Amino acid sequence: MDILQRALSCPKAELHLHIEGSLEPELAFALAQRNRIDFPFASVEALRAAYDFSNLQSFLDLYYACADVLRSEEDFHDLMLAYLRRAAADGVSHAEIMFDPQTHTARGIAMGTVIKGLCAGIDAARAESGISATLILSFLRHLSEEEAFATLREAEPYLQHVAAFGLDSSEMGHPPSKFERVFAACRALGKPVVAHAGEEGPPAYIYEALDLLKVSRIDHGVRCTEDAALVARLAQEQMPLTVCPLSNVRLCVFKEMRQHSLPAMLAADLCVTINSDDPAYFGGYLGNNIRAVQEAFNFDAATWARIFRNSFQASFISAADKAAWC
Ligand code: ADE
Ligand code: ZN
Repeated sequence: MDILQRALSCPKAELHLHIEGSLEPELAFALAQRNRIDFPFASVEALRAAYDFSNLQSFLDLYYACADVLRSEEDFHDLMLAYLRRAAADGVSHAEIMFDPQTHTARGIAMGTVIKGLCAGIDAARAESGISATLILSFLRHLSEEEAFATLREAEPYLQHVAAFGLDSSEMGHPPSKFERVFAACRALGKPVVAHAGEEGPPAYIYEALDLLKVSRIDHGVRCTEDAALVARLAQEQMPLTVCPLSNVRLCVFKEMRQHSLPAMLAADLCVTINSDDPAYFGGYLGNNIRAVQEAFNFDAATWARIFRNSFQASFISAADKAAWC
């Protein structure tokens, strides 16, 4: 078996995946029909043609618009099951999955509808293939601290279904420091926290995520290579970075895959993992990310083994489960 085939079939964890970003156009149209919603695109092809992004915000505008088709527990179940089937086919044995409750509660969808539907999808997938998955409740950073606290209160009855908390959406102008108190409250609940930082934002945002939010992982973090002292610290702490190669190219963080900072990050001994972010919008699931990275960089088998070992080490599974996978 060649290196690519081995990498594709190797057991791995996916740690950076937005469930709303796994909404394929076909499912979006089916849900629009089921929920009798006037969807503002003529066809699946017309929707796919709109996937031409110039930066993070241009993507987020479409991503939030499409999420409007998600209305019922059954919709969230179907979305989750569809993603986990695709992930299992790419060798993912465990996934830690972000969801954006504020995208739904702002439209009048109850927190319980979202979480119960997603959990039902996780249970169905586990029964089907054995894949395990947990949820990361992510706050939208373009909204206020007060709205994040209100969301945390709404989630209180469901916290047994929340493995961790995250921070996503428009990065520039919304530094991690804006959510220092929210994240302190999340950590006080005994849950780990993660945050998007250094995707479009500067290295200073990565420092804030580490020092103020006290994150257990940095989502993206690819701009860390602009700051040698930061790289040295991330390496020394073996702070996991959930890198999403196709996403970074589609959102113009890098012009092309060959310019991605991934090889530099690996050379600096960083704890890198590879993930798909919003696979329906960015050209594919974890398998396609692995293919694109291998085409650009031709990694050896040991590098892929290291990346997948990192994915379990950086996950929130138990130490015993880590020992079994690593
Ligand atoms: N929400 C969904 N995808 C995201 C990304 N790549 N960055 C920030 N927020 C997001
Ligand atoms: Zn993301």
